[in-house]
Amino acid sequence: MCGIVGVVGKPARDIILKGLTNLEYRGYDSAGIYLNDLKGHEYLTKAVGRIRDLKNKMTPDEQGLVGIGHTRWATHGKSTVANAHPQFDETHRFYLVHNGVIENYTQLREKYLKGVDFKSETDTEVAVQLISKIARDKNIDGFTAFKEALKLIKGSYAFLLIDNTKPDHVYIAKNKSPMRLGLGKGFNIIASDAVSVLDQTKTFVDLNDGDVGDITKDNYTIETIDGKKVTRKPYVLHMDANAASKGGYEFYMLKEIDEQPAVMRRLSQDYLDEDGEPTVDPKIVNAISKADHLYIFAAGTSYHAGLVGKALFENFANIPTEVGYASEAGYHFPMMSKHPFFIFLTQSGETADSRVVLQQAIKRHIPSLTMTNVEGSTLSREADYTMLLNAGPEIAVASTKAYTAQIALQAILAKALGEKLNVKAAKDFQLKHELAIAAEGMQQIVDGKEKMEKISKKYLVPSRNAFYIGRGIDHAVALEGALKLKEVSYIQTEGFAAAELKHGTISLIEKGTPVIALINDPVTADLTRGNIEEVASRGASVITIVSKKLANKNDDIVLPNIDYYLSPLLTVVPAQLLAYYASKDKGLDVDKPRNLAKSVTVE
Ligand code: F6R
Repeated sequence: MCGIVGVVGKPARDIILKGLTNLEYRGYDSAGIYLNDLKGHEYLTKAVGRIRDLKNKMTPDEQGLVGIGHTRWATHGKSTVANAHPQFDETHRFYLVHNGVIENYTQLREKYLKGVDFKSETDTEVAVQLISKIARDKNIDGFTAFKEALKLIKGSYAFLLIDNTKPDHVYIAKNKSPMRLGLGKGFNIIASDAVSVLDQTKTFVDLNDGDVGDITKDNYTIETIDGKKVTRKPYVLHMDANAASKGGYEFYMLKEIDEQPAVMRRLSQDYLDEDGEPTVDPKIVNAISKADHLYIFAAGTSYHAGLVGKALFENFANIPTEVGYASEAGYHFPMMSKHPFFIFLTQSGETADSRVVLQQAIKRHIPSLTMTNVEGSTLSREADYTMLLNAGPEIAVASTKAYTAQIALQAILAKALGEKLNVKAAKDFQLKHELAIAAEGMQQIVDGKEKMEKISKKYLVPSRNAFYIGRGIDHAVALEGALKLKEVSYIQTEGFAAAELKHGTISLIEKGTPVIALINDPVTADLTRGNIEEVASRGASVITIVSKKLANKNDDIVLPNIDYYLSPLLTVVPAQLLAYYASKDKGLDVDKPRNLAKSVTVE
């Protein structure tokens, strides 16, 4: 994963540090910066930990008009200063930051770099040593050596390179890892995403895989590795720089949970007309309506949203739907129906595993749609169609509002499809009304968040492990509730189909083990109540999250009534809040749980 920022033509230090801080969601176990003041002074600082640790290590005189920086999520080599980027060659001429994985680094090292004194365990150092060796052996300039090296390198990369014999240039290259070029007056900037540098410019250039560039303060040229010039058109990104700020909240996660009612209203406005009819692009609806089978691919929380999507597409559009982990499908491709259609759910639009499946779909001419929160992201550009989640930037590593946006958007698409295919359930589905109920209900839940803090303090904070149980659509939410709780609070939590617990896992229930039971399905409510009895009688502390029409006086969290198929929009909110408070009350960094990164751009 990792995040990168490069600046040329402007005092670079603070811009890079701020950009890297914004990119910490991509990894945050170590960081580094190289600055060159173009008057013969250069500075390299690296630190284990966060960007603030890097900043603390720097002295005020470390400034530069050109610079590159990196925040790391370790793939090759532990989190140490030596392994932090920028990596440099043995002559201290080239400085390189890298997001991605070089697959053939061992072979490159053995074939071309025998006898080189390596200072780190990283694949990136192999790349920078190789560039240097090629430049020396062939006596060619740095940029040409960079392109020669790229011909040998296999893998994913967003590279920023500085050659200190020509320090007013930043050389860039992209393959599979994200990178945007931002254009300013008298300066240019390169970063892993646009939002991280939105306070500097709103004009961006998207780069394609295989692009190599030479960036100076007033100019940029993009070409292929073989030197063929290419044109990439700049565009203005209409996004408010403040949308990515904390707005007075202690943590982004709570801000993003609280934003969900607004996201529901926005989606309703953007995708439904005044009469509640979907305004989804007819090309998308036409293309999908020809499919005999939908295949949803995703990872993590987006996969859980896909499980809800399966119920929506099957019920409202009458199209059989499979949901798969992208990480599995990429290399064990499922058996296909005659006319498949692929849907990719991905908040970031950059998840490497999902992209592998999309590449397979392209190769096999299977039509595809990406639902994403990030306009212009890789999966959005490469799929045939895109639908945007319009949830605003999601910064906390744990996904919240993107999950509910994915469910709402799938419901809208399912209704559009079902209406086109003449499915009665779709025609009868009062979606605009139900989304208004969802927005209202979410607001009620977030307004009563103290209740979740109390429950969390009493039952979750003292526990080592916990369970979520539910049936039908509640099972999908149980998986998401469990993921949310464990990833931010480190309480080991599993989500189960309620009745499955007794087929083995019930042996883990002890006195006080928290079991959070979700009950929204009238058909199975009584059965789930039975499962609650089974764990309660073995000592579990049961917490119920129940829709009003199925609730009794002993239930803990009662949700407003909503259509069963949209119930996850409400059920998940208390689960998100329980996770948030468990993490916060344990004194953890809620937004940046250990070992994680938000955008998983390695397979
Ligand atoms: C968990 C979480 C992750 C992501 C997963 C996929 O809270 O955020 O599980 O859902 O890494 O990411 P996207 O949706 O960007 O493809």
